[in-house]
Amino acid sequence: MAPLIIYGATGYTGKMASEHAKSLGLDFIIAGRTEQKLKSLASLLDVGYSVFDVDQGGLIDSVLKDASVLLNCAGPFMRTTRAFIDACIRNKVHYLDIAAEIQSYQQAQKFEEHAKNANVMLLPGCGGSVAMLGCLASHVVEQVKNPLEIDIALHVAGPMSRGSAISAAENMTSECLQLVNGTLVAQDASNTAEFDFDDGRGHVTCFPITLPDLLTIQRSANVSNIRTYIHASGDSFPTGNFDSLPEGPTVAQREAAPYHAAVTVISEDGVARRAALHTINGYTFTSVASVHAAKRVLDDEAKPGFQTPAGLFGKDFIHTISETEIKGL
Ligand SMILES: NC(=O)c1ccc[n+]([C@@H]2O[C@H](COP(=O)([O-])OP(=O)(O)OC[C@H]3O[C@@H](n4cnc5c(N)ncnc54)[C@H](OP(=O)(O)O)[C@@H]3O)[C@@H](O)[C@H]2O)c1
Repeated sequence: MAPLIIYGATGYTGKMASEHAKSLGLDFIIAGRTEQKLKSLASLLDVGYSVFDVDQGGLIDSVLKDASVLLNCAGPFMRTTRAFIDACIRNKVHYLDIAAEIQSYQQAQKFEEHAKNANVMLLPGCGGSVAMLGCLASHVVEQVKNPLEIDIALHVAGPMSRGSAISAAENMTSECLQLVNGTLVAQDASNTAEFDFDDGRGHVTCFPITLPDLLTIQRSANVSNIRTYIHASGDSFPTGNFDSLPEGPTVAQREAAPYHAAVTVISEDGVARRAALHTINGYTFTSVASVHAAKRVLDDEAKPGFQTPAGLFGKDFIHTISETEIKGL
């Protein structure tokens, strides 16, 4: 049995992550719930595969028992995280995922002590937006004396994948949140804010949204007042029937749509410091960064309990992804 299992490997992002893992020569198998799709991807990549659903505890245990790391790419994560966190703790396997949903992180928080007792790491958001925003926030927080508040925004460019649209739409039905004095409280969804992504457009309007970074940045940057925002340009956020959407952006669409982020950190005495992050498209980033994180965990860079990519690997984790730059404003 291989030390790494990539679950949800036949999805849009899971497939790119599996291809990247193969290109790095990692020892891994792919897994998921639909045998036909797994069989054809496994044969293409020349790796083993395993078929199980999240409610098949016995089967999951038999697959996880000899593994070290599970990279879960199967979203909506509100349906997969809990079962896999339980199974990873039972089998002493480190749990990694690419969730953009706060619930995955709340589960990691809830089961942190169990994970610590089992010497297991829970690292939701090991690649993707959580790694981008966490590293950006840490870079700026380090330059501010007594940081008090963080406002941070992600610029999503180009089309979203069908899976992301489904997960985001399910998430939006819940209340919009912010972090105040370390507690998640309601945020008025009409409280827009202006951010400059340093991409030549000047200040643009961003909408408040509940991102997992409310919890992860609190941990990695040790700041207890955080608001998270999103700016979707062009046709980023689809409407209507998601079933008719393509699986995700094409290579050309990804290359034409780099992602940006912007942050403002305010100190206790009211001084604001700003920076912007320019990087590659979020889907390319996620597939590369999540596998890079899995590789480092396989190489023993793990800490028991709930960890964040910026906290575990440091703020320069972002720079392991090519074409990534942080600009002070
Ligand atoms: N944080 C980030 O920056 C970031 C970046 C990219 C993606 N994501 C997130 O990653 C997730 C996947 O995105 P995607 O574009 O790859 O979606 P996708 O193409 O729809 O793939 C989803 C995969 O998950 C599997 N799956 C879904 N629900 C499942 C369940 N209940 N039990 C078992 N397997 C299940 C699907 O299996 P079947 O094929 O058998 O249905 C498929 O393999 C989304 O939640 C998205 O928001 C986050």
